[in-house]
Amino acid sequence: MRLYSNMVSSLKLIFLIVLSSLWNCHAAASRDTLKPGDTLNSSSFLVSSNGKFIFGFNVSEKSNSNSSYLSISWEKSQNFAWIANRDTPILYPSGVLTLDKNKTLKITHTGGDPLVLYSAAASENTSSSNPSNFVATLLDSGNFILQEVSSDGSTKQLLWQSFDYPGDTLLPGMKLGVKHTTGHIWSLSSWLTENSAERGAFTLDWDPEGHELKIKRRGVVYWSSGVFRNKRFQFILPHGSKHLKYNFSFVSNENEDYFTYTRILDDDDQSDEVSEWVLTSLGRLLDMTSKVDIARADNCYGYNTPDDGCQTWRQPSCRHLDNTFEEGNGYFDTTTISNATTTSDPNTSLSTNDCKAACWENCDCVGFNFLFDNQTGCKFWNGNWEFTQGLSGYSSSTNLYFLTTKISPSGANKRLRPIIIVSVVGIVVLLLLCIVWFGLRRKSAISGKNGTRIENELLDLMKSDRSIDSVEGHENDGNMGHGLRVFSYASVLSATCNFSAENKLGEGGFGPVYKGKLITGRDIAVKKLSRRSGQGTLEFKNELILISELQHKNLVRLLGFCVHCEERMLIYEYMPNKSLDFFLFDSSRGLLLDWKKRFNIIEGIAQGLLYLHKYSRLRVIHRDLKASNILLDENMSPKISDFGMARIFTGDELEANTNRIVGTYGYMSPEYAMEGIFSIKSDVYSFGVLMLEIICGRKNNSFYNADRVLNIVGYAWELWKQGSWLELMDSTTLGDSFVRDQLLRCLQVSLLCVEENAADRPTMSDVISMLTKTESVPLPIPTKPAFFTGRKSVRAGVDRSESEISSVNAFSNSDFVAR
Ligand SMILES: *[C@@H]1O[C@H](CO)[C@@H](O)[C@H](O)[C@H]1NC(C)=O
Ligand SMILES: *[C@@H]1O[C@H](CO)[C@@H](O)[C@H](O)[C@H]1NC(C)=O
Ligand SMILES: *[C@@H]1O[C@H](CO)[C@@H](O)[C@H](O)[C@H]1NC(C)=O
Ligand SMILES: *[C@@H]1O[C@H](CO)[C@@H](O)[C@H](O)[C@H]1NC(C)=O
Ligand SMILES: *[C@@H]1O[C@H](CO)[C@@H](O)[C@H](O)[C@H]1NC(C)=O
Ligand SMILES: *[C@@H]1O[C@H](CO)[C@@H](O)[C@H](O)[C@H]1NC(C)=O
Ligand SMILES: *[C@@H]1O[C@H](CO)[C@@H](O)[C@H](O)[C@H]1NC(C)=O
Ligand SMILES: *[C@@H]1O[C@H](CO)[C@@H](O)[C@H](O)[C@H]1NC(C)=O
Ligand SMILES: *[C@@H]1O[C@H](CO)[C@@H](O)[C@H](O)[C@H]1NC(C)=O
Repeated sequence: MRLYSNMVSSLKLIFLIVLSSLWNCHAAASRDTLKPGDTLNSSSFLVSSNGKFIFGFNVSEKSNSNSSYLSISWEKSQNFAWIANRDTPILYPSGVLTLDKNKTLKITHTGGDPLVLYSAAASENTSSSNPSNFVATLLDSGNFILQEVSSDGSTKQLLWQSFDYPGDTLLPGMKLGVKHTTGHIWSLSSWLTENSAERGAFTLDWDPEGHELKIKRRGVVYWSSGVFRNKRFQFILPHGSKHLKYNFSFVSNENEDYFTYTRILDDDDQSDEVSEWVLTSLGRLLDMTSKVDIARADNCYGYNTPDDGCQTWRQPSCRHLDNTFEEGNGYFDTTTISNATTTSDPNTSLSTNDCKAACWENCDCVGFNFLFDNQTGCKFWNGNWEFTQGLSGYSSSTNLYFLTTKISPSGANKRLRPIIIVSVVGIVVLLLLCIVWFGLRRKSAISGKNGTRIENELLDLMKSDRSIDSVEGHENDGNMGHGLRVFSYASVLSATCNFSAENKLGEGGFGPVYKGKLITGRDIAVKKLSRRSGQGTLEFKNELILISELQHKNLVRLLGFCVHCEERMLIYEYMPNKSLDFFLFDSSRGLLLDWKKRFNIIEGIAQGLLYLHKYSRLRVIHRDLKASNILLDENMSPKISDFGMARIFTGDELEANTNRIVGTYGYMSPEYAMEGIFSIKSDVYSFGVLMLEIICGRKNNSFYNADRVLNIVGYAWELWKQGSWLELMDSTTLGDSFVRDQLLRCLQVSLLCVEENAADRPTMSDVISMLTKTESVPLPIPTKPAFFTGRKSVRAGVDRSESEISSVNAFSNSDFVAR
């Protein structure tokens, strides 16, 4: 019982609270009018009767200060539709809006004279009027008006309205144009910066003569809407957007010339969205409610480019149609300090777009940014600067604007060029294949064998299979005279237990690798090639014969292969100690690799590479050198695996991007990653990265510094420059075992290997002689390396299409190993 009465009383209480709060809400919401003598202070608001607009003192959330704006805002957007005091911030919460008994509408605040929005004294005789018959109302359209109501309430006279003083926002029904009777101009003007409502550089005007809308930057026409035809302007975006239709109207008479618009709502469109056109501080005009661009004057550089409304103005001779500024997160860096300078302009009335225009005018300027944190003032980078995006160095990376060359009509050809090359090459390859095909047919016809080429191949393969099967998987010396054997699929299946998951050793760039045991007891590693190599079986076999002839103690030995339907498998000798990454990047296993072993590994890899590059008959470029491709034998001697794969897969590369095998992020040299150029020097670059990993015991992509990712090359370079290279050493695992000089030498050689310019990198024979010279022969001093982390690295002012190609390469990459 008691419980029950308690519940009832508390329910009553809740009911009362809810009711009273509803009442309060209602009371607050209903207020859309100021009567004579009323005031509005920082804790009260007017709300339009439809509830969409709010009028009051708002603290700008963007600018982190105590200043407030008397503003009208649409409740759903974070945009101020109108601001009474854009040039005079008011100290929060001191602002009070007052409607005087004698028809003066003004803002009083501490720290300044009152701001008078409307005062009757100047324009009319006040003493005669009844003091109570005028009101200020916030209308449903977002217009705040002061009007005089005749005593019977029948006629109303408009005294003042906020729509006559647009800020950076055009609401439906607002006018742009000129009132001839008073000379008053309705015009939008952008904010100074995105956080400061102060009048900025851009204006949007209605040109009554041309019947065009125009965006000007400090008086220069940047953009024009073009003529109005078929219910739309030539250059106003969006062209026929389904969801956004405007009803434009213009009025021209002796009193006024103006433009205004409303939004046409579809019948099925139940949303009652308002529309707001906002002119941003960068010169972009967009419909804020639907985030749709109306005009992009921020993209205008003074060339009259078709279809965007950009206007023409005088250009400096050094700039071209293709040049644009891009915004990117990164930093400017230089290799030659001599011609790289920075300048600044501390004028706080300048904002980003002014800096952009100034940089454009100055032929030395390659990039800019604002000077102060509040986005005013300018900083310019002139001369030999290079913008590097996304990554760090040790200088902080921020949003910067850099000059670049966009892909223009002529650039579009450049973009098409690879496609053309690929198709031409494709056709040539097809023709060649046809010729080979007919040649082979003729040959087989002549030799009296009527079978096709495929039959020949199968015959050939079966013969060798039989020879293996006949001795029941025993190793035989009948290895086709090439040291290469053909394994039957059945023997491979039984050796790997049907490619069971327990037998899987890992997943390489070219497919999974399985451990197997032949009937003879010999351990093998079977690599299943991930996709068709684009070669016929015969070519595949011939290629393998060539590769099997590469024999060096630092290369993994290829024992044979197996072809089954579409599948191709390579059979290698088995390496009991897995791959280098297994030890290197593990803190406990890393202990097994003391400096002596590490140095042996470095040297062994170098010897293996030298053999591939120089002494082998084939001159193989590995193209995918990395820690996981270095296998270790029982003595921890390194053996390079996957060499020659590039040869097997080259046929494919011509066919399509999708099957392309290129290499691995972080190990790719910049010229290879960016331009697809590879040479033995690309392998040298990968070797340099690998060497750094061996020294540090860390993956090349494992460097994090505060908020940004560093790659190993950038990290090593910074430490080298600072002379604190000992920090680089894998101190936990290397202990005291390292030989200081040898380590320094290795570091220096690896920095030489990752130099930006391929020609500057040493060859593998240089590397070996530098590594093995124990006496203190001075090594060349490395210069700034290429920091390629896989993110865009863009040279300021240089063709951007290159970097785009690089991203294509990067994503068709076979091997994003997540280790
Ligand atoms: C605003 O006015 C109300 C009522 O007059 C008052 O209670 C409140 O303290 C005022 N707020 C400020 C910030 O002055
Ligand atoms: C805002 O006002 C508070 C209290 O008046 C003051 O402590 C603070 O420093 C002011 N902040 C700024 C940015 O002026
Ligand atoms: C201004 O203040 C009102 C009431 O607190 C809020 O609803 C509105 O979103 C604010 N406007 C802006 C642009 O912050
Ligand atoms: C009315 O206007 C006069 C002169 O413009 C001014 O001196 C007076 O203070 C105003 N009255 C009120 C109540 O503000
Ligand atoms: C205002 O009205 C008073 C009396 O009605 C008259 O004496 C005065 O001249 C008028 N002033 C103006 C500026 O019209
Ligand atoms: C466009 O606006 C004009 C004037 O504001 C109005 O008369 C007309 O009905 C509107 N048309 C549509 C389709 O909304
Ligand atoms: C630096 O500029 C001068 C003249 O402006 C030029 O002669 C010189 O070659 C430039 N040096 C470099 C390193 O670009
Ligand atoms: C600062 O820039 C503004 C806008 O371009 C310009 O009007 C003003 O004269 C400049 N002030 C100085 C001191 O240069
Ligand atoms: C921006 O910061 C500078 C320097 O701190 C100051 O002089 C200037 O008034 C600020 N401008 C704006 C719009 O906040």
